[in-house]
Amino acid sequence: MQGESLSINYRDIAALGYDYVQEKTYTADHPEVVASANSFLKRFREKQIFETFNASHSTPSLVKTRVVGTQWHRFSDLMPYILCAASAKVSNNRLRHYTIQTAYEELGARNADEIHHEMFWETAVMAGAKNTDRDAMSDEPEISRALNFIENFMMDSKSDEEILGLLLGLEICAQENIETVFSSLAHTKELEAKLAETKFFKLHRQLEMEHIRLDVSIFLRFCQNSQEKIQLFTKGFDAGVEFWKQFWSGIGNVIVRQREVLTCA
Ligand SMILES: [Fe+2]
Ligand SMILES: [Fe+2]
Repeated sequence: MQGESLSINYRDIAALGYDYVQEKTYTADHPEVVASANSFLKRFREKQIFETFNASHSTPSLVKTRVVGTQWHRFSDLMPYILCAASAKVSNNRLRHYTIQTAYEELGARNADEIHHEMFWETAVMAGAKNTDRDAMSDEPEISRALNFIENFMMDSKSDEEILGLLLGLEICAQENIETVFSSLAHTKELEAKLAETKFFKLHRQLEMEHIRLDVSIFLRFCQNSQEKIQLFTKGFDAGVEFWKQFWSGIGNVIVRQREVLTCA
């Protein structure tokens, strides 16, 4: 997509009842947005996180559904807290305005029936995950370590730029994440059709590129005017990408372990 506008269908987002952040400068077709988004996407893709995961865990199964369902739920349960804490931690209200937008959306905007991690769990249950799986897999060590890593990085960060960079790092592979979660839950053809029609997946297939645009606009607006700020932002970004590396390799290990446990249960 070098040189092209980011593919965001605002009409489809609005049709799903979602509003989006108003932007007059750093729109999806702004050359700096396109160039920066591509440069950060390239930096993340060099890590080959999803290629590595898919190479070992491409086969659909109910075990994979139950592992990815529970562990993605743990991540999405934590994310609003990270976003709210990040918003509280940044140093002024203009930054807070931008960082709180995604938190508000994750928490269902004005509709408590659309709190995203709850919507996600209903979708995972539809695919075969069980409520008892949540207790049984509530503290898988690799995933706990990865979740602690982002929480600690955010809490220990000493600058706005590190926090803002972390948020883009957490968002940068949102499309890969959502498609990997989808293929992990859709372990039968029937489920594939059924899950594609859920609000959770319809919404997230539309929203994610706009989240990337928003976080890139934050970089361009607040962080690109000195080498020091760019370096701090990149440090935060790399921590976000490191989280995904730990998370998806951890999921792979949990699948291997749970294959024994769940198929014997
Ligand atoms: Fe979400
Ligand atoms: Fe997102």
